[in-house]
Amino acid sequence: MKKTIQLLLVLAFCSQTGFAQKETTILTIKNTAEAPTINKNIYGHFAEHLGRCIYGGFFVGDTSKIPNTKGVRNDIIAALKELQIPNLRWPGGCFADTYHWKDGIGLQQERPTIVNKWWGGTTEDNSFGTHDFLNMCEVLGAEPYLSGNVGSGTVQELADWVQYTNFSGKSPMSDLRKKNGRTEPWKVKFWGIGNEAWGCGGNMTAEYYAGEYRKFATFMSDWENTGGITRIASGSNSEDYNWTEVLMKSIPNNMLGGLGVHHYAVIDWSKKGDGTDFSEDGYFHTMKSALKMEELVTKHAAIMDKYDPAKKVAMIVDEWGAWYEVEKGTNPGFLYQQNTMRDAVLAGATLNIFNNHADRVRMANLAQCVNVLQAVILTDKAKMITTPTYSVMKMYRVHQDAKLLPLSFQSPLYTFNGETLPAISASASKDKNGAVHISLVNVDAKNNNKIEIDIKDLGVKNFTGTIITSAKLQDYNSFENPNKIVPAVFKGFENKKGKLEITVPPFSVLVLEGK
Ligand code: AHR
Repeated sequence: MKKTIQLLLVLAFCSQTGFAQKETTILTIKNTAEAPTINKNIYGHFAEHLGRCIYGGFFVGDTSKIPNTKGVRNDIIAALKELQIPNLRWPGGCFADTYHWKDGIGLQQERPTIVNKWWGGTTEDNSFGTHDFLNMCEVLGAEPYLSGNVGSGTVQELADWVQYTNFSGKSPMSDLRKKNGRTEPWKVKFWGIGNEAWGCGGNMTAEYYAGEYRKFATFMSDWENTGGITRIASGSNSEDYNWTEVLMKSIPNNMLGGLGVHHYAVIDWSKKGDGTDFSEDGYFHTMKSALKMEELVTKHAAIMDKYDPAKKVAMIVDEWGAWYEVEKGTNPGFLYQQNTMRDAVLAGATLNIFNNHADRVRMANLAQCVNVLQAVILTDKAKMITTPTYSVMKMYRVHQDAKLLPLSFQSPLYTFNGETLPAISASASKDKNGAVHISLVNVDAKNNNKIEIDIKDLGVKNFTGTIITSAKLQDYNSFENPNKIVPAVFKGFENKKGKLEITVPPFSVLVLEGK
């Protein structure tokens, strides 16, 4: 009888809140010295000459009324500095294999135009080029990651780009750089050798690309030992494990600084669904595709381990994020989409996967930074807003270069229409000052999840929390209501004698900080 009354009380509570209650998940954190450091570059971004990412996004030109520094919007610079973005990949994407960098240097009015074949057939006037990008990276405090043209470029062209940006002595390319107003080299570290070589980068086979890679990589000199350049191979399309196998087998480890992987969360490539107008079905299947990242990283890493047991070659997930149909009324070639709580959950869960695989994943680039796909920033003329994904990146920046704290737990399930996904995603780290950060995501669209964490061995006592959630999964920040979804203080936890008891609301992302 007593039990029946208790059950009725619980049910009454659930129907009041609208959320069902689940059993508590016990999450164990291992405070071990052997764990890897979470490379800050996992929190990297991507900026392509695509739609309104560069033109109308980052770059408005120095004659614009919108406040700018050498043509780059000041509001975007400030927002990205706040995120502490560690690196920025440019100029593509598919665009990279059509881009000839010499078109984008020298006097702007003398630069040739090209047609952007992949993205809307727009005329590109090359007004944003190498100097503009690399100077912007300096202002942002971000490492540039240049994607070289293999598909339609030459070995000489890419070798020259390295010399132009990195050589300080006298040489044809450093003289040209100086003539164009830059004395000191930028010393660009990260170099992509082609992009999606299996597709828009040249429709190559893995075997053919491996040969091309070796040739291009050989002539990209590491000028004057400037700390070394990291050569990054164009990686597989999602679960193309053969691509990884062939590249790892065919390219000596000492020629390969990193190997890419691209994976987009998409419901169905032929019917991608709307960015804001979606049902729980759309949410579930976007998350299913996003959470596949765990399997992809695990399986690609296992192949890399075979050829590189010392884990010298980094896995670089240089394109990830959600891909929906473009916002109604916008150019289909511009890939502009809004960004809801669904995207925040997706970002939080994906970043947890990367953190937990920090031994191999050492860089990742969200696609893309401004106005394209899962953007952190959206602009409309002079207006700029940040998205829920931006907030997640901001909350998670505490993991950058912190020591991973490995976790173990059995996730409860999020069930929808007979299909299941793990409901909880988590990762934790300890920063150089000893502060512990635990990031938790409840993927479940309907139910709270209770988590208990033993914190006695972590060397911290006092916890505070930040959360991002909203009334509806479909909520987003608009130009009319830019702060609908912003991080808030989270108080849904108790510290009971060294055990944290946390109630994580449905579709929410939170970070706990212990000091
Ligand atoms: O991010 C958009 C496009 O997606 C990139 O240009 C390409 O690399 C990928 O297919």
